[in-house]
Amino acid sequence: MKILGLETSCDETSAAVIEDGRTVLSCVIASSKNDFAERGGVIPEYAARRQLECILPVIQKALDDAKLGAADIDAIAVTYGPGLLGSLLVGTSTMRILAALWQKPLLPIHHHHGHLDSIWLDLPNAIEVQFPVLTLSVSGGHTEVWLRTSHTEAELIASTRDDAAGEAFDKGALLLGLPYPGGPALAKMADTGDETTHAFPSPLHGQETMDFSFSGLKTSLKYVLRDLGSAADMQHADIAASYQKAICLHLVRRITKALDRYPDVKEVHVVGGVSANTRLRSMLQEHCQSVTVRWPSKLVYCTDNGAMIAAAAYFRHTIEHAETAWRTQASVSLS
Ligand code: KG4
Ligand code: ZN
Repeated sequence: MKILGLETSCDETSAAVIEDGRTVLSCVIASSKNDFAERGGVIPEYAARRQLECILPVIQKALDDAKLGAADIDAIAVTYGPGLLGSLLVGTSTMRILAALWQKPLLPIHHHHGHLDSIWLDLPNAIEVQFPVLTLSVSGGHTEVWLRTSHTEAELIASTRDDAAGEAFDKGALLLGLPYPGGPALAKMADTGDETTHAFPSPLHGQETMDFSFSGLKTSLKYVLRDLGSAADMQHADIAASYQKAICLHLVRRITKALDRYPDVKEVHVVGGVSANTRLRSMLQEHCQSVTVRWPSKLVYCTDNGAMIAAAAYFRHTIEHAETAWRTQASVSLS
């Protein structure tokens, strides 16, 4: 089954064609991220205009790269939310029109379900994921832990009370004078620093909760920089490394707590933009040795992309619903 997936929830316009939920035949991503480098964040109206410019060429390239035409596509999937309203409207309106023109089922997908299923993209067929799975989903918009018992059944067991982990990276990067999106830039700077030099607090320490909180870490970074004054300039790499370690440690501590609470769990997955972070990956491997730890097979599948939306549509479509059910849901969700 070949699904054309589209993701336009923020500043990426991405279309992809996926076969049977795992094999990526094409994945095209146009991003307006660099346009926001100096501003420290996305300008929603501008991002929506860029979506409009990119959307048709990106869809066409995804079909061309897969060497397919509209007639070869079995269904169309599109992110319906959450995200920036203008950007989402460009994607959902375009896909509604294409679905009507091409006479294909339209499958609306929640952005977070896309990230959860990004783990299956280009995963070799010989590898079968063992449920139950704990999935740490960490991006610029959300930070969650899901207990997944099958491809389509999942319970949300923890989420952030304030900032998302990616936001903590982005805001920290801004304080350190790095361009948006700050995560990759801060991680690169941290590579050359010593993570043991600056102590950051452990959020929600001593509390029973599984939730996350990142806003205190960002405030601590502000105070560290203020207190050091001009001396901070010489220590940016060490500060970045220590700050990154504090974010990752908070995430990892929640996962090890969840593993104690759910001893049947066989695998830990980390998905979303922050799953690209190599320090987070190594810390998870170090602290979760009793289970298999996975992250998306390519860096582009960590950040927003159309392939994960098509994968989520495949599993939800083929496993849980009849085609007609999807059609009904699509018309409700997108109307
Ligand atoms: O999943 P994503 O592309 O978009 C949202 O759904 O938010 O995630 C983007 C977030 C940004 O906050 C970005 O700074 C962060 O992921 N990110 C990283 C890295 N690469 C991207 N954070 C830390 N280390 C990275 N290597
Ligand atoms: Zn995302």
